[in-house]
Amino acid sequence: MGQLEGKTALIMGVLNEHSLAWAITEALVAEGCACGFTYMPEERMERRVRKTIEGLNSRLIVPCDVQNDAQLQQVFSRAQETYGSLDIVIHSIAFAPRQTFEEPFHKTSRADFQTALDVSAYSLVAVAREALPVLNEYGSLLTLTYGASQRWIPNYNVMAVAKAALECSVRYLAVELGEAKKIRVNAISAGPVKTMAAAGIKGFGSMVERNVVKSPLHETIEPEDVGAAALFLCSSGAKRITGQVYYVDSGYSVMGW
Ligand SMILES: NC(=O)c1ccc[n+]([C@@H]2O[C@H](COP(=O)([O-])OP(=O)(O)OC[C@H]3O[C@@H](n4cnc5c(N)ncnc54)[C@H](O)[C@@H]3O)[C@@H](O)[C@H]2O)c1
Repeated sequence: MGQLEGKTALIMGVLNEHSLAWAITEALVAEGCACGFTYMPEERMERRVRKTIEGLNSRLIVPCDVQNDAQLQQVFSRAQETYGSLDIVIHSIAFAPRQTFEEPFHKTSRADFQTALDVSAYSLVAVAREALPVLNEYGSLLTLTYGASQRWIPNYNVMAVAKAALECSVRYLAVELGEAKKIRVNAISAGPVKTMAAAGIKGFGSMVERNVVKSPLHETIEPEDVGAAALFLCSSGAKRITGQVYYVDSGYSVMGW
C-alpha cells in the first residue's frame, strides 16, 4: 500500500510533462494519492494540461488564473465538492513579463513589478486563504522557489524579488496555518531545470552550467529530485517540518566561492 493511499492533492501549475508540478504529481500518484488539477484558462494551455494528465482519470480539472479571486474561490469549492477535503496543495506557479529577464533590473516598470509579485508571490497567500477551510489537519501547502531570492543571479531580476517575497510569505503562512489547523507550509528551492517557465529566462543555459561547475555534486538536478523531495515534505514523515525553504540544488546554495 502506498504511503499516500486515501489522501487527496490539488496540483496547481502543471503545464506539460516537463513541469516541476508534473514530477511532483508522478511522485504523489505513485504512492496512491488522488490528484486534482488547475490550468490557466486559455484554450492552448487547457489542451496541454489535459494531454499531460490524461492517463490519471482525475476527477477534478478546473480553470484558475491566480490573478482572479473568483476563480480561486471556485477551485477550492470544487475541490471540496469532489474530495470532501484535501491533504496536499501544490503551488507551482510563477510569471514575470519576458522583458523583465532582458532589461536591467532598475528599468523594471511598476506594472511589470506588480504582475510578477502578484502571480508569483501574492498568489500563495490567496491560495492559503482559500485552502485553509478545505485542508485537513497536518495537511501540506508546498510552493517552489529559486536561490536567486538570496543571491544575485544574472537576468533573474524582478522574479528574484518575487521569490524573496514568496519565501517570506511561507514563514508567515506557516505560523498562521500551523496555529489554525496544524497545516504545514514549505517551499522547495530547486536548481535549474529546463521547463517552459525557464525557457523565458535569458541566459538560462549558463545557470545550468554554473550549477554543474560550482555545486559540490557538480551536476544540476532532475525533475524527479523535486518530486521525491515534495513527496517527503507532504508525507507524515515530515509532519513537524514547516516554514522551511528546502534546497534541492546539488548543494549549489552553500558555495561562497
Ligand atoms: N525550472 C526551474 O529551473 C525552476 C527552478 C526553481 C524554481 N522553479 C519554480 O517552479 C515553479 C514551476 O515552474 P516550472 O519550471 O515547472 O515551469 P512551468 O512553465 O512548467 O510551470 C509554470 C506554471 O505557472 C502557471 N502560471 C503562470 N501564470 C499563471 C497564472 N496567472 N495563473 C495560474 N497559473 C499560472 C503556468 O500555466 C504553468 O503551469 C515556478 O514557481 C518556478 O519559478 C523553477
